[in-house]
Amino acid sequence: MRKTVPLTASHLKPTAGHGAGCACCMPHEDDDEDEPQDTQQKGRTMKLSKRSDIETFRALDNLRAVNERIARGEDIIRLEAGQPCFGAPQAALDYAIEMIKNDPRQGYTDALGMTLLRDRIAVYYRDQYGEDLNYNRVTVTVGSSSGFILAFLAAFDAGDTIALTTPTYPAYRNILKSLNLNIIEIETRAETNYQPTAALLEDSGKKFDGLIITSPSNPTGAMIDETELQKICAWCEDNDVRLISDEAYHRITYEKPAQTALKYSKTAIVLNTFSKYFAMTGWRMGWVVVPGDMADRMKRLSESLFVSPPTLSQHVAYKIFDHIDVLDGYVAHYKKNRDILREGLPKAGLKNLSAAQGAFYFYVDVSDLTNNAPDFCRQMLDEAGVSMTAGLDFDLTRGHQTLRISYAGTPEDMHEACARLGKWLG
Ligand SMILES: Cc1ncc(COP(=O)(O)O)c(C=O)c1O
Repeated sequence: MRKTVPLTASHLKPTAGHGAGCACCMPHEDDDEDEPQDTQQKGRTMKLSKRSDIETFRALDNLRAVNERIARGEDIIRLEAGQPCFGAPQAALDYAIEMIKNDPRQGYTDALGMTLLRDRIAVYYRDQYGEDLNYNRVTVTVGSSSGFILAFLAAFDAGDTIALTTPTYPAYRNILKSLNLNIIEIETRAETNYQPTAALLEDSGKKFDGLIITSPSNPTGAMIDETELQKICAWCEDNDVRLISDEAYHRITYEKPAQTALKYSKTAIVLNTFSKYFAMTGWRMGWVVVPGDMADRMKRLSESLFVSPPTLSQHVAYKIFDHIDVLDGYVAHYKKNRDILREGLPKAGLKNLSAAQGAFYFYVDVSDLTNNAPDFCRQMLDEAGVSMTAGLDFDLTRGHQTLRISYAGTPEDMHEACARLGKWLG
């Protein structure tokens, strides 16, 4: 039997990760990866599905390992965690507390989410992008991650082919595979800002039913220009390709704002999340905007797959739109971090950084330093006490020579990381 884990004050602190002694991060004494599975213990082997045989999400394995090391008291500067070091603004949390007092039951909401919140999201499109949107097109989801499942199921049949451009957010590949969808990967390069263009899609000569774009991108922070976005939207419509635009990092932008694909496409599916700009990571809230003719499919899928998104989280999400000023302050913080690293990392020996126009990531070409990014990261962690994510998650073929650096932590940590790396590499 597992022991229960007591809650400690470290759970309540807004940090990039968890602190020393954090109970939820400590490995359990009975954790043993070599332990036989139940089916094997009984001497029988039952079938496991082929579609669940997906790649491990290495960035999350890494996150867990670093959490455990920090919980044991190791001094590690975290540049691996893809989540804000902040929490939701206090006023939104206070609102949630009020909501619990008013209604301790916190029962299910509509499967598509509370109308109040869906409408608030629709208003956000008017305010932020000048796009009129009927709330009927909005589905509130359990993080954007569950939104991908709904969107892929609503748009594609098993056996359809979806194009990703690498380097890419790895969960797309894994979710697609688990839904029996085929994947085509189209490489992008540093010289073209690690983003696709309509010309690249055309020149690929490949046939596909769907395309996923992410701007600003995880892992590169690179953005698609608005004129190029318009061309990509047109190319997809001309070629009967369903565009899926992941806008998870919108509003975390440093040079110019990101435009939504909804502006240029009537058929695109747009996903967004409360986990990044809105700093509600663990509340697990996201949303999907679909074309009008897909709305009822989203309703039917959401009802049976998830019943309802978490009610309390929806209250916080609704209230958070009143605190955009606080959230913009978080973005100013990330920009400061970006500028510290952009100056400090090349001096420390990491020279080939991506443009980092948005999100909170640099993608670094380390081909001058290693052919084995995972080993390089392990060594960096052991010897310099700095954690980063190896590029393999994002690019299965070229990721041996790349790293992803997250600058969602504190400015002090950014300075310290540069100092440690300078010594280690110097
Ligand atoms: C590009 C991108 N999309 C989607 C997600 C999923 O986020 P969530 O499920 O928290 O909304 C992430 C998380 O890191 C991401 O980087």
